[in-house]
Amino acid sequence: MEMEKVILTGMRPTGTLHLGHYFGVIPELLKLQNEGSRLFLMIADLHALTTLKHTKNIGKDSLSLATMYLAAGINPQKSTIFIQSQIPEHSELAIILSMITPVPMLELNPTYKEMKEETSNLIKNNLGLLAYPVLQAADILVYKATHVPVGKDQEPHLEITREIARKFNSRFGNIFPEPKTILQKESKIFSLQNPDKKMSKSHGEKTYISLLDIPEEISKKIKTAVTDSGKEIKYDEKKKPAVSNLLTIYSLFFEKPIKEIEKIYKDKGYAEFKKDLAEIIINKLAPLQKRFKEIENNPSLIKSILESGAKEAKKNASQTMEAVKRKIGFV
Ligand code: TRP
Repeated sequence: MEMEKVILTGMRPTGTLHLGHYFGVIPELLKLQNEGSRLFLMIADLHALTTLKHTKNIGKDSLSLATMYLAAGINPQKSTIFIQSQIPEHSELAIILSMITPVPMLELNPTYKEMKEETSNLIKNNLGLLAYPVLQAADILVYKATHVPVGKDQEPHLEITREIARKFNSRFGNIFPEPKTILQKESKIFSLQNPDKKMSKSHGEKTYISLLDIPEEISKKIKTAVTDSGKEIKYDEKKKPAVSNLLTIYSLFFEKPIKEIEKIYKDKGYAEFKKDLAEIIINKLAPLQKRFKEIENNPSLIKSILESGAKEAKKNASQTMEAVKRKIGFV
């Protein structure tokens, strides 16, 4: 008998999604949803605390992420969208898992090494940052998830999750599956200001296009996007990384191969190319933005979707916690 797939993924609510997500995470999630797997989409607001300086927008940002999922086509009849902090079982399991997690394993985690000197956190080098993968393991194991779609940067966290699952199973008895990573395709979209870096929210406003940017902003960001020397509109990652990036974005939105786009602009300049590109992005994002607005204008709808999401999540998480407590011997 094939085991039922239980898929869980999480995203920190740290502002709006951008073009990289639009062509990466979102299609992947829709594909999984439409294959009929059971999908848990968690808004990782507790995890967001590890990397924020201010928390006043966190509730709003969580709602906005839920709204974006819905606008992008996540169907709450099929998938469970919920907010991490509303399910205390995550924190409860994390504490239990922390007892079987060696500190040196956490200290070796590359994300921790990178982030511990980061001063834009609430508190530099906080314990939550060190224990980040333990909470993430709890997020996954509390649903006995079998598959976790994430980007390559999350693989160390998934390895730690599997290690913790093995330790728990061998110490207290078999209960957790070892979750497999569903590796998301690497985003091919780079920063508009520095084509060496992936498009990300962390490199500044001008470097990315948010899915909620208004037309004027999109035009301005494309207009001020860096280009390369020479006039040609030609794909060449080495010699023309910036133009290549714009061509990639064009091709993804226009759904035509880059070669064809190069032909259209054979005797034309950057200005015209950029003007058209901005227009294409604006038009393609318009329906998504319209759905976003409609859902946003219906707060009781989002509220009820998140309430039923939390109810469904809670049902599963509390069942696991009961079993965990029995295995340990608490009850
Ligand atoms: N650490 C993930 C990220 O930053 C977010 C996350 C938290 C997550 N809990 C998770 C992802 C559980 C997958 C499964 O992208």
